[in-house]
Amino acid sequence: MTDGGVVTRDVRGRTMLITINRPEKRNALDRQVRSAFLDAIAAARANDAVRAIVVTGAGDKAFVAGADIAEFEDRTTVEQWRAMKSATIFEAVERCPKPVIAAVNGFCLGAGMELALACDIRIASAAAKFGQPEVNLGIIPGGGGTQRLPRIVGLGAALRLILTGDLIGADDALRLGLVEEVVEPNAFLDRALALAETIASKSPVAVAAAKEATRAALSLPLDDGLKLETALFQVCFASDDRAEGVRAFLEKRSAQFTGK
Ligand code: COA
Repeated sequence: MTDGGVVTRDVRGRTMLITINRPEKRNALDRQVRSAFLDAIAAARANDAVRAIVVTGAGDKAFVAGADIAEFEDRTTVEQWRAMKSATIFEAVERCPKPVIAAVNGFCLGAGMELALACDIRIASAAAKFGQPEVNLGIIPGGGGTQRLPRIVGLGAALRLILTGDLIGADDALRLGLVEEVVEPNAFLDRALALAETIASKSPVAVAAAKEATRAALSLPLDDGLKLETALFQVCFASDDRAEGVRAFLEKRSAQFTGK
């Protein structure tokens, strides 16, 4: 485990737990946190022993309460534009071939909500609160919220959240399909880690292909998406993991996947 930093990494089984660790500022994302988070995702990608990632926030108050608002005060438009053009934590999560699960405690606001939206699956504590409050600051979501939120919850629900800045609780988030599960506050992290381990036990080749193909459904026309699915199916079909998976089924044992 790396500790003491603004983002900690802890490999548990085949899962890397990445914790945004700035609880005194409700885990708000400043430049240092973003940079350390990108490093953590790169480390998880590079480590063959890591097959799944869980992202959470330190403490019981917040997942992430948004971008660090203090950084907005003195930034020029050009500096802000450069910051948004550089590698973002949102794309890093979305493009990571390993599954990324958000374990959401407390406040999940603004860029924090956008980070959760970029994750593949969201598990919420019953105490979590979600919102895109940027409109209160005279800005709009800038980490993909206007694009990913309507794709996940539909246009009306997304506009309601983005235009009002209202916060909603975990049960409303579940009803909207914004989160996949709501779990008691003392159990949400274990639940997310267990789900990550379940996925980590599958073929890493198939998991990466499934993530890429399924995510493409939101941006590709159907015919192009079906072609991509066929191409990725062929990649899986040629893998050692496919041979092992089929053999293990026929031999009535559990498969030992190598990701090759
Ligand atoms: N950026 C910078 N600092 C933040 C922050 C953010 N997004 N969110 C919280 N903080 C800081 C507070 O300024 C405070 O710092 P201080 O102790 O030095 O004064 C500290 O975190 C604790 O916040 P506080 O407001 O006292 O905690 P709370 O539990 O009463 O309320 C929130 C929590 C999240 C409801 C409230 O902090 C908030 O509304 N934050 C901003 C949310 C937001 O607009 N996010 C979108 C940004 S684009």
